[in-house]
Amino acid sequence: MTTPVPAAGPPLLEVRGIGKYFGSVIALKDVSTVVRAGEVTCVLGDNGAGKSTFIKLLSGVFQPDEGELVLNGEPVTFGTPRQSLDAGIATVFQDLAMIPLLAIWRNFFLGSEPTKGRGPFRRFDSDTAKRITRRELAAMGIDIRDPDQPVGTLSGGERQSVAIARAVHFGAKLLILDEPTSALGVKQAGVVLRYIVQARDRGLGVVFITHNPHHAYPVGDRFLLLKRGRSLGDFGKDEISLDELTRLMAGGAELEALGHELAREGGPAADVARALAADRDGATDPTDPTDPTDRSVGAPPAGARAAGPAPGGPADRR
Ligand SMILES: Nc1ncnc2c1ncn2[C@@H]1O[C@H](COP(=O)(O)OP(=O)(O)OP(=O)(O)O)[C@@H](O)[C@H]1O
Ligand SMILES: [Mg+2]
Repeated sequence: MTTPVPAAGPPLLEVRGIGKYFGSVIALKDVSTVVRAGEVTCVLGDNGAGKSTFIKLLSGVFQPDEGELVLNGEPVTFGTPRQSLDAGIATVFQDLAMIPLLAIWRNFFLGSEPTKGRGPFRRFDSDTAKRITRRELAAMGIDIRDPDQPVGTLSGGERQSVAIARAVHFGAKLLILDEPTSALGVKQAGVVLRYIVQARDRGLGVVFITHNPHHAYPVGDRFLLLKRGRSLGDFGKDEISLDELTRLMAGGAELEALGHELAREGGPAADVARALAADRDGATDPTDPTDPTDRSVGAPPAGARAAGPAPGGPADRR
């Protein structure tokens, strides 16, 4: 397996062939990947691909029916979210467990308030809380005007950033972010991506869930692709290009069929078809013998744990 930064020792987290069933629904089957300290593992997939199920297995909300989780080389089971948290895994859910009307610093310490004094004189140490909040946010490069500002007045991107800074402060080793950029505009998404990089640079392992390859690729070191609960492959960054990631995500063949259908309709639908075709032509074509990209036909590259058919196989980007 090739990774951009060869890390010594076992990975922070290994996911080995995990599966989860809801009655006859296969939410996840035979999915494997690794997360290393100081790296970002992206989990990509469309609606219903199993992304949320995947992180719920990591954060102890669900228990896997198959496979195992190995943390720092030791097999682990998380019966509850608390157990996962105690093992250093912090999950930032999309709807964020924050109270909009409370100040930033109050939200930062929600559930873990610092106190001063003893016995009956014990009280919430608000000065310390404010100071730490300001310091921790500054350390992540987040400049808040006033820690007394209610969280509800922050932008979506800033709120995500506070949640990330909080997880870092409370000692998370592994940070899981469920679609932190999906509801954001381009600029705000860029801000959150920067904090993901900051968390990585501080040595955390990050699991970044998204359906947007353009958000994943610039920050990711590994890419796990899910489709209808199955793995389409688990690639190191040097094993897959942005074009290939995008094509795998979109399902190249399905887009082509859709293009033909729309073209037959004429009118505005035909415009969409032309746009789709232009998009396709922009990417390299795996079936084109004149395609200059060097690729081993049909075979996944060494190190990629492709569990399904990867159209054309990822190319050598050199
Ligand atoms: N508690 C549950 N009971 C029954 N089926 C479930 C449950 N949770 C998830 N599923 C099913 O498992 C599959 C994967 O769902 P999951 O929420 O993990 O997808 P996702 O990739 O997060 O999708 P989205 O992008 O829409 O959030 C879906 O078919 C879903 O209906
Ligand atoms: Mg989901």
